[in-house]
Amino acid sequence: MVAAGNSLFTAGLARTAREVEARLALHLDQAGVTGTPPRLLASMRHAVLAGGKRFRPFLVLEMARLLGGREAAANALDVAAALECLHAYSLVHDDLPAMDNDELRRGQPTVWKAFDEWTAILAGDALLTLAFEILASHGSFDSAPGSGLPPATRARLVARMAAAAGPAGMVGGQMLDLEAEKLGQPALPDEHHVRRLQAMKTGALIAFAAEAGAISAGGSPEAIANARTYGEAIGLAFQISDDLLDVTGDEATVGKAVGKDLALGKATLVAVAGVEAAREHLAAAVDAALAALAPFGEAADPLRQAALFQLDREH
Ligand code: IPE
Ligand code: IPE
Ligand code: MG
Ligand code: MG
Ligand code: MG
Repeated sequence: MVAAGNSLFTAGLARTAREVEARLALHLDQAGVTGTPPRLLASMRHAVLAGGKRFRPFLVLEMARLLGGREAAANALDVAAALECLHAYSLVHDDLPAMDNDELRRGQPTVWKAFDEWTAILAGDALLTLAFEILASHGSFDSAPGSGLPPATRARLVARMAAAAGPAGMVGGQMLDLEAEKLGQPALPDEHHVRRLQAMKTGALIAFAAEAGAISAGGSPEAIANARTYGEAIGLAFQISDDLLDVTGDEATVGKAVGKDLALGKATLVAVAGVEAAREHLAAAVDAALAALAPFGEAADPLRQAALFQLDREH
């Protein structure tokens, strides 16, 4: 039985956030040292360092810890930092006027609002490429934890992160999301379409988080496959709970605008099936995530709590 309540989980999440933020700050300082123009650097810092749950880094580090202990978690820190840079890029572009046209993110003005659109486009481009630089570099600028993954492991992670982020992953999912909203295509998205869209736009990066933790820890093929199954299920749960927050959440707590998706015609489970059905799909996805953790025993409790957190998260 998993420890009740999610206060244990939120404390763990906050601890990860501090660890990964310190590492991200180092990488951004390094980007400054190597010649990034100040306005670009400031916009990247705004995108990366102004809040955020750091949920994907949590999954990377906890999966690495589960399969390889403290040393594996330390070696996965740059994998977590790279993925968070990539996630931040996806948010910066998602918020642009041409896409979701949002002005509030993590309780702050979005990057295009705080700077301007062209800076936000370039900040996103810069974070996407920085993410791959961090992931691919071996012993880049110091000997801190994270520089210790073998080159073949880094190459595998680069390929998997590219697949998760790219045309058949996050970017493809964003295309399906915006085609439904802006072109009305398909005219009547069904649950199957929405699930595919969610699996791509959000599930792919979250599944990669869990998988990447397992790969960095040198997990067996079975362990990596189980991590991925868990990640896919929790990724689906994560986007359903995000869609529910748009309907039931409060702007100050969520840190971004709410109540927009239905009006815009976003293809969400809430839109095609209603709030109650979306809650049922959420519960089923959380169950699937828990089932995928069965082989890992009690040591996987932090990852179980991460799944249960999706049932009632408020931000
Ligand atoms: C928001 O992601 C975008 C989605 C994929 C739903 P998060 O809810 O992880 O955003 P932050 O990083 O905590 O701000
Ligand atoms: C965004 O989904 C998923 C991304 C790939 C960034 P949403 O558009 O629902 O995310 P929020 O609600 O703006 O955070
Ligand atoms: Mg969007
Ligand atoms: Mg959005
Ligand atoms: Mg949303």
